[in-house]
Amino acid sequence: MEEKERKTQDQINKELREEWDKLEFATQEVRAGEDPYPSTNNSLRVPIYATKSYVYPTMTDMLKHHYFYSRTENPTLYALDKKLATLHEGEDAISVASGMGAIHLACSSILQKRLKRIKPHKIGKFLPQTNSEKIPNFVVHKNQYTGTYRLFLNLYPQMGFMPRIVDLRDINALKKAIDSDTRFIFFETPANPSIDVIDIEKCADLIHEVNGKCIVDNTFASPALQKPLQLGADIVIESLTKYINGHGDAMGGVIVGPKNDLLNIRYFWLELEGQVMSPFSAWLILRGCRTLSIRMDKHSSTAMQIAEFLENHPKVAKVIYPGLNSHPAHEVAKKQMSNFGGMIGFELNSMEESYSFIDNLKTIKIGVSLGDTTSLMEYTSIMTGIDLASWEKKLMEMSDTHFRFSVGLEDPQDLIIDLEQALNKI
Ligand SMILES: Cc1ncc(COP(=O)(O)O)c(C=O)c1O
Repeated sequence: MEEKERKTQDQINKELREEWDKLEFATQEVRAGEDPYPSTNNSLRVPIYATKSYVYPTMTDMLKHHYFYSRTENPTLYALDKKLATLHEGEDAISVASGMGAIHLACSSILQKRLKRIKPHKIGKFLPQTNSEKIPNFVVHKNQYTGTYRLFLNLYPQMGFMPRIVDLRDINALKKAIDSDTRFIFFETPANPSIDVIDIEKCADLIHEVNGKCIVDNTFASPALQKPLQLGADIVIESLTKYINGHGDAMGGVIVGPKNDLLNIRYFWLELEGQVMSPFSAWLILRGCRTLSIRMDKHSSTAMQIAEFLENHPKVAKVIYPGLNSHPAHEVAKKQMSNFGGMIGFELNSMEESYSFIDNLKTIKIGVSLGDTTSLMEYTSIMTGIDLASWEKKLMEMSDTHFRFSVGLEDPQDLIIDLEQALNKI
């Protein structure tokens, strides 16, 4: 009886997913994970389940249910997981406390197999074997978010794993970098802050030849513009803090991928590391998801107008936007993205001009992060790049006059007027 009821619940979930899969993307954004939902009091919205425990009348009832403790499962987060898995066309998803949390959980789970219960006298066997010739390695693109860079280059080597930094715009460089000890390849596309575009399909094909996994950080595109799992990636990461929530008022991350990999992440890594998302944040992010594609369309069309304006401005030395013909990987972007997003990179001619420009902005706010309704300008090497040594900036080709512009949802003309008056003052 018990087994039969469990199967019935699994069957219901499977059937719901089949229904959501039949819908168009904009309808999925609104309905997947939420409609139908076993709601309380006929509430249209999924409630915020602010609880740590789930209680049952009998032990037998408890064993029949999915919910035990909110560090690993919560009904508000469940709705968000199902929505994001549907939007990415992935088997399942796990929402966690931040984008960094998602990256660390996903990568750790691949580098370090789930350890069986270790007897104390055998612990030494599991310590990093740093002098072994068979050190597990992973390949990362040379440009990425500085937090991710520090995780890969500062923390993982001390845990016994070896990063290989490669320019993934060059597929032959990737070919040379991988071997049978390569556990995964990780890249953002478009990448932060350089706006490099990497060919997902080609990278995934290559890493699969050595049985490694392809992990893509899709934060700059979101599933509204790009679906890496459909291009051959194994796992996709999003910082939900950015476009998916979209309103700059909550933090979160998600891992989307195969059910079995995610079970290991949820019940081993998440359980032990505790990077759990609050149900309040999940509720806000569910709200953000419902308008994702219309926001991404607007971000993209405004960014295109601004990129063209900047490209034609005499005080601007260089513009990097995937939608411009001048972007070195414009053709790759056209192949794998349905639109080009809201992130623009550009360079001025000197640090003096750069300081003057940013200090003269009025409508556009100076601030880190991205994917907000509000336009945010970042002077890259002085803001998120502040902790990087000069050799690291050189490795990332981060110029001292580079700006990363997260184009918001304001009227494009107001943004152009603001950029123009600030450029005219330098
Ligand atoms: C591309 C990318 N991935 C991951 C992260 C980390 O996300 P979070 O700030 O939600 O931890 C960021 C943060 O800026 C990012 O830009």
